[in-house]
Amino acid sequence: MSIEVMSPRPADVSPRYDRWTICLHWLSALLVIALFASAYVWDDLPRGTPLRKTLQSVHISMGILFSVVFVVRIFWRSTGGRKLAALETGLQRILSKSLHHLLYLLLAAQVVLGYIFRWTQGEPFMFFGLFSIPNPLETNKDLSHWFGWLHNYAGWTIIILAFGHAVAALGHHYWLRDGVLRRMLPAGR
Ligand code: HEM
Ligand code: HEM
Repeated sequence: MSIEVMSPRPADVSPRYDRWTICLHWLSALLVIALFASAYVWDDLPRGTPLRKTLQSVHISMGILFSVVFVVRIFWRSTGGRKLAALETGLQRILSKSLHHLLYLLLAAQVVLGYIFRWTQGEPFMFFGLFSIPNPLETNKDLSHWFGWLHNYAGWTIIILAFGHAVAALGHHYWLRDGVLRRMLPAGR
């Protein structure tokens, strides 16, 4: 009888994030891209058109969903989620950790800005027509203008940083050929 000895593939050796961390990462990434894209599609449409209004209410509903996913993600990361040490060393390690923390910080700020923006606009704040978020603030068009401005620039900063982050992840995969991208992918990929 022969015994087959299987040598482990690199994918089996490198640790992966747990499945909840992976799900929450890709769900957040999809929502952030859809939130940004929806805003830039409606920006090109004439004011008052039904499609523009629909995109705005879809943006706000996805924003509410994103805020829940984000809170769950932070909770999971600080309790049960698997935290992996950066595979890089030296300056690269500092840069990658700092970029991740900056992204978390900006995403948290963006959620707070989005809620205050809507509350000060004094317009409907519905989740896909199912229920409404109560408004604790007074309508204030001047303030809403400023929060809109901040929300817009925070959105651009997030997208630019997330793009750099994605390019770095792809660079690790195709150029450095290490396990950085694979550990954020479901097992078997
Ligand atoms: C990372 C997530 C998000 C990104 C990238 C993003 C991006 C944007 C951008 C670029 C705009 C257009 C701003 C302008 O033209 O002045 C916008 C508008 C808006 N966002 Fe977000 N947003 C995000 C999350 C949220 C969240 C969590 C909420 C609140 C639930 C929210 C509520 C709003 C509102 C109320 C508007 C204005 C809609 C209108 O003009 O009627 N956003 N967002
Ligand atoms: C808007 C889009 C995205 C956002 C906001 C985002 C955010 C983040 C954050 C905050 C982390 C840190 C996880 C932690 O340590 O808790 C992370 C990790 C990671 N992301 Fe993204 N991400 C996005 C899109 C992408 C894309 C498109 C890719 C791949 C092409 C990617 C690949 C990765 C990988 C491989 C890690 C793990 C890095 C490591 O272990 O050192 N992300 N992402």
